[in-house]
Amino acid sequence: MLYQRSSALFKDAQEYIPGGVNSPVRAFKSVGGTPIFIKKAEGAYIYDEDGRAYVDYINSWGPMIVGHTHPEVLSATVEQMKNGFSFGTPTELETEIAKLITSVVPNIDMVRMVNSGTEACMSAIRLARGYTNRDKIVKFEGCYHGHSDSFLIKAGSGAATFGNPNSPGVTQGTAKDTLLAEYNNLDEVKALFENNKDQIAAIIVEPIAGNMGCILPEKGFLEGLRQICDENGALLIFDEVMTGFRQAMGGSQERLNIKADIVTFGKVIGGGFPVGAFAARREIMNHLAPLGPVYQAGTLSGNPIAMRAGITTLNIINNDRELFTRIDKATETLDVEISKILAEKGIANKINRLGSMMSLFFTKQDEINNFTAVTKCNHDSFNKFFHHLLANGVYLAPSGYETWFISDAIKDTEINKTLDAVRSFEI
Ligand SMILES: Cc1ncc(COP(=O)(O)O)c(C=O)c1O
Repeated sequence: MLYQRSSALFKDAQEYIPGGVNSPVRAFKSVGGTPIFIKKAEGAYIYDEDGRAYVDYINSWGPMIVGHTHPEVLSATVEQMKNGFSFGTPTELETEIAKLITSVVPNIDMVRMVNSGTEACMSAIRLARGYTNRDKIVKFEGCYHGHSDSFLIKAGSGAATFGNPNSPGVTQGTAKDTLLAEYNNLDEVKALFENNKDQIAAIIVEPIAGNMGCILPEKGFLEGLRQICDENGALLIFDEVMTGFRQAMGGSQERLNIKADIVTFGKVIGGGFPVGAFAARREIMNHLAPLGPVYQAGTLSGNPIAMRAGITTLNIINNDRELFTRIDKATETLDVEISKILAEKGIANKINRLGSMMSLFFTKQDEINNFTAVTKCNHDSFNKFFHHLLANGVYLAPSGYETWFISDAIKDTEINKTLDAVRSFEI
């Protein structure tokens, strides 16, 4: 049996951890089968408890952009650890990472570090509400901004995978302040603003969506959101938890040349450690405690080891601007070659890609540009594809509602291994 030890570990885990996992999509519920328990990772590969190696396209759901256990990140964090693990006081490292982030991300003057993307987005909307003195927010169907209550309304991948778009436990009172629109549909956003005059604090959006599979913003969509916010005194929040330091050093703002008012980060910013951040212009950030009345705090926020891992990872990327060209090119090769192989087999498919994010949809639809289109794809075929690749040593995210993340450790050898696995796939 391929996954013998993983199966045994999963059985044990289910006794003590709900569903055997500490984050739902890890449970393989969407694709079926037993989750793989990972023991270690290096470069482009993760290694399971049964001793099998996999080319990794999850990369911890995005953070490991320079590959796993990068030697520079490893030695910097180990050195840092020798000074202590956590102090609960300011450290120079926090200013260093804030300087680095504000120097490369457009349109921001100040940064607040937190422990996850969830915290970053949750705090960003609180700040937007405090700044505008308004209660409502607009979010898009299929976009995920973490698991805080306001966002668990048609929240994309995890929730969609479990067929449970709105979570029980979120009160009606909270839900009523979250207005929903279809991704890439400006008319719906305009209608929400007309029907909720002077009540909307912010629009929060994944500028390149990754939580309903990879969905690209259509031409004019983000520009339209910018204009609607400006005309209505609302703030535009770009959730760059996935796209920050991945689509470009300055994230989607740089890649797509659009300015947001508040930007949230996670994933790459922590180099694999639990880190998130939110950032904005000074006049907005001045509203945050201890300068202003909007409260936000954290025992482990700005943890020195996590900061060191983040700084080192961001410096590696920043000092090697060819890195984005390389990972984008590797992703393009995967896109072109996988589409070709599947088309030759007569398997209808559509790949969405921007930079080093991509998703493969089994579908005859010409465009996959919103959540509804994703739900109409053939997810049974995706699930078969997933298991075939897994058995052939290639690890994709275990759901057709997810994005593949390509790291700089993925080279021709790994791409060829992936393409060989696709070649032997039969529907
Ligand atoms: C766009 C986006 N925002 C927010 C989050 C939440 O981040 P975290 O899982 O670190 O809380 C995620 C996580 O996948 C995400 O993809």
